[in-house]
Amino acid sequence: MSHARVLCAGRVVTCDPARATPDDPLGTIDDGAVLVVDGRVAAVGERAQVLAAAPAVVIVDEAAGGLLTPGLVDAHTHAPFVGSRHEEYALRMSGAGYEAIAAAGGGIVASMRAVRSATQEELEATLASRLERMARCGVTTVEAKSGYGLDLASERRQLLAVAHVERADRPRLVATYLALHALPPEAGGDRDAFAARVLAHDLPSIAAEGLAKFVDAYVDRNAFSVAQARPVLARARELGLGVRLHVGQFADVGGAELAAELGAASADHLENVGEAGAMALGKAGVRACLLPVASFTLGQAAPPVALLRAAGVTMVVASDANPGTAPTESLPLALAFAVRLYGLTVSEAILGATREAAASLGLTDVGLLAPGARADVVMWDLPHEACLVQPFGTSRALQVFRDGSPL
Ligand code: NIG
Ligand code: FE
Repeated sequence: MSHARVLCAGRVVTCDPARATPDDPLGTIDDGAVLVVDGRVAAVGERAQVLAAAPAVVIVDEAAGGLLTPGLVDAHTHAPFVGSRHEEYALRMSGAGYEAIAAAGGGIVASMRAVRSATQEELEATLASRLERMARCGVTTVEAKSGYGLDLASERRQLLAVAHVERADRPRLVATYLALHALPPEAGGDRDAFAARVLAHDLPSIAAEGLAKFVDAYVDRNAFSVAQARPVLARARELGLGVRLHVGQFADVGGAELAAELGAASADHLENVGEAGAMALGKAGVRACLLPVASFTLGQAAPPVALLRAAGVTMVVASDANPGTAPTESLPLALAFAVRLYGLTVSEAILGATREAAASLGLTDVGLLAPGARADVVMWDLPHEACLVQPFGTSRALQVFRDGSPL
């Protein structure tokens, strides 16, 4: 017997390109409804029409005057972390620099120590709790990076945590092996040798086990160079994996051009990207993943959004959830900052956390409400999508569904 449910609301934001118009890029429907059958969207439209076409027995969830959107998609998180870096945060707030703290053995390496000393159970329980909090913010799909293990065994444990924690009643997970994030102490300062080992040994092993869909590298000053990252990411492509990059967070060292050259799924951060990099991304059709909570926390200026728009770059907005630069689990907070601090339009921000975020993860049946899509739906206690980008500080998600079932 099939299971059907109709969700009704004062306003439905479909994010369906087939409904989008220049005046309404989100394809909205007033007084609309979504028919869900067996975990998929069967119909979307005006309430009366959807109800008339619905099977005889349905459950109707009425959000009086409320708002329905696709489940939010967080396309850049470091969710499988453990531990807290509150001491570093306090130092930074009184003037110490993020890069200087990292150079002194803190930062990413502090989180590495926490991951290496955690049990597998601790890694998994911490991630599961975090995902449950993300779901309460309306998030139904989460990209989850490793990158705090910094050796094969520990990176593998982070990725195993992602695989083990995936469950139908939690947000869907997409695993990324963050292969080049920082240098562990045992590397003795030799970035070339570390990258060579990742290329020859760690990457093939992670790929063979099928533990990740994407491979990521942090290409920046005080991180890895284009020359160090290129062979690792090119090999990832050969192994059938997608690539996404942290680029231009502190300096433009050519990371955006590398992302374009590799046909990356996204180029993330971009607070510091020049015209050549932006043009290269646009030409190659690489999405920019903007991370406004990180630049807010670091007190940085916004990325050159007008330049990205002019270059035809599609924008994604993500939380960057991590214990250093983005201590948040809230994608709606990132949306608020994307609009207030980066000047994204409401439509750009919402598409960047739904359909475009999903597309950057290689998911075409997620992030939109259209027939055949997965029934990931959020019912918000809000009258309009323009409210979704306001910095409430509490979640306004009333009910969150993944594949048609409540989370
Ligand atoms: O996306 N820039 C590198 N990686 C993270 C921060 C990691 C950390 O500080 O733990 C980021 O901002
Ligand atoms: Fe990041």
